[in-house]
Amino acid sequence: MINMRDLDETSITEAVVSKVTQGGSARAKQINEAVVRHLHDLCRELELTEEEWEYAIDFLTRTGHMCSDTRQEFILLSDALGVSMLVDAINHRHPGDTTETTVFGPFFVENAPEVTSGADISGRLDGKPLLIEGAIRDEAGNPVAGAVVDIWHADEDGFYDVQLEGGEAGGRGRVLTDETGSFHLSSIVPSPYPIPDDGPVGQMLGVQGRHPYRPAHVHFMVRADGFRRLVTHLFIEGSDYLDSDVVFGVKDSLIKPIEWIEPGSGSTGGGHYLLRADIRLAPA
Ligand SMILES: [Fe+2]
Repeated sequence: MINMRDLDETSITEAVVSKVTQGGSARAKQINEAVVRHLHDLCRELELTEEEWEYAIDFLTRTGHMCSDTRQEFILLSDALGVSMLVDAINHRHPGDTTETTVFGPFFVENAPEVTSGADISGRLDGKPLLIEGAIRDEAGNPVAGAVVDIWHADEDGFYDVQLEGGEAGGRGRVLTDETGSFHLSSIVPSPYPIPDDGPVGQMLGVQGRHPYRPAHVHFMVRADGFRRLVTHLFIEGSDYLDSDVVFGVKDSLIKPIEWIEPGSGSTGGGHYLLRADIRLAPA
């Protein structure tokens, strides 16, 4: 029986652990115990002041208040502290010949427009024309037909559609691969952008002496029966911030060139940039 009275700055940890591990699954108990132990150790290590703890609670409260249907401040916090990429790394340790993963980010929307291959998904976003030509394959290089490919990206000013006035989608679409595992979509070349920095996470970055920028990229999420869901980006070669991404998401294998196709040339008639999205899925 653990003493529950006269708890001091050391004995309180065992008392709390004994309580938070009374219920839930084995995994829940493990998580609850670890959270309490690490949090208590943090307070002891820092000799946290009451003002600092109040500040932390106020910071988290403001972070919650900043969240809405189109703004997820907690994802930004996780991203900016490298937790999103750490969890990603733990869960995708051995990519083999499959496409590497990176952060999900806060700008995915579940009800993206479903389009057919060849569609223009730029919507009301402005920018230079970009053709995204994709091929989804398995680890051995066989085409994956009927894969669901979600694509989303920012505009030439670095804004996603959900950050702009008006409700229409832009730079966003969901397409199925054909029997050769391929698709192509027209859109625009995205620019680097700051993560939304008008909230508590932006204030944190300022205090830490950090810029809020991400290099230019296109998000992909690919789902297909028999394969692991892939969440990744392709980063545009030569973009600013490839070596200082505020969310730590850049991987060499995900940096791709965009090539200018002269008008009147190529199978598409040209007059656009081209991004090749050759993606290999890991088995489920
Ligand atoms: Fe993004």
